[in-house]
Amino acid sequence: MKTKVGVLSAGGDCPGINSTVHWLVYSALDKDLVPRRGTMFEITGILDGWKGLIEMKPGKKDSIKRWSMPLDTAVVRTWDRYGGTRLGTSRINPFDPKKDQSEVIVENYKKMGLDALVVIGGFNNLGVAYKLYRMGVKVVGIPKTIDRDLSGTDYTLGFDSAVNIITEDIDRLRITAGSHSRIFVVECMGRKAGWLALEAGEASGVPIVLIPEHDFVLDRVIELLKMRKRSGKRYSIVLVSEGAKPRGMEEVRERRGRDGFGHYYLGGIGGFIAEEIQKTTQMEVRYVALRHLQRGGSPTAYDRRMGRKFGIAAIDMIVNEDFGRMVSFQHGDVTSVPLKKALDRLHLVDVEKFYDTKNYKSLDQIL
Ligand code: F6P
Repeated sequence: MKTKVGVLSAGGDCPGINSTVHWLVYSALDKDLVPRRGTMFEITGILDGWKGLIEMKPGKKDSIKRWSMPLDTAVVRTWDRYGGTRLGTSRINPFDPKKDQSEVIVENYKKMGLDALVVIGGFNNLGVAYKLYRMGVKVVGIPKTIDRDLSGTDYTLGFDSAVNIITEDIDRLRITAGSHSRIFVVECMGRKAGWLALEAGEASGVPIVLIPEHDFVLDRVIELLKMRKRSGKRYSIVLVSEGAKPRGMEEVRERRGRDGFGHYYLGGIGGFIAEEIQKTTQMEVRYVALRHLQRGGSPTAYDRRMGRKFGIAAIDMIVNEDFGRMVSFQHGDVTSVPLKKALDRLHLVDVEKFYDTKNYKSLDQIL
């Protein structure tokens, strides 16, 4: 028996995706496992996410070559150590009410003769995967997003690498901040979730962390900075999540509008805070938005390991016909949950449990 599997990555890229594909292919093509599994696998990488499945004309050789690639161990051998996604990605919503292309995807899935589709995605794209599952596509999801905002799993690929980059960059900024006795406002990603800011804040020990789950008061931020100065600190760093906002105000949005799923692109809150501090105090302030730097580079050891676990688990799920589910990491174990559960709601910071709303940082006490 032969099982033909397509794999694609959709939405924002992140370190760990290539590691996942590497191990998915290695596991799928492991000859020793054929007798136990009762099937041989053929793996096809779909290029540029949903775009590949929409644009592809499965009857045309050139089109197949443009939008897909056969994956074997020789092709993916070195992928595990590289960030981003070698399969490419896009931010297309196939269920966009203005142009619904979901039927095209289902047709192409059938025409390609696929028996299953592995979707490496975050909240929006696993949402697409779930809808396609309900239309008959045998889907397995793998969670990835540096935001770590998916329910049903303790981990999403890319988070650890991003936390490491933010931490390293803050280490760098400390040096110049200290030399000049300046305040640095550093903006990180995360959309509605403050996990990146909170955990990078813990790792780097920055004194003030602002997260989307708790609206901050600018005067209090300034007061905290002044207190630090009075206590003899030469410099301060404020780490702010892109979705954080001052009480009574809206999130700061980028000019480029909305993505394919209708969400505004966020960004600029760091600049706003920096200007306000500069205006109301004598302190010298600089602003750095880490933007896509925090999503680039190679995966940390942790993301490589998680990619390995997730890729292997996805193939096991196909063997067991566990479709409509997402690979999940819970309490140290790899397991799976129904996609529906992962999409129930965004996994946000529980402020009461994790955040000090007076001093704007992680709550360090043991509850
Ligand atoms: O969802 C992941 C994420 O990195 C968010 O943190 C960020 O707001 C967004 O993607 C940026 O999207 P893009 O790469 O399309 O600019």
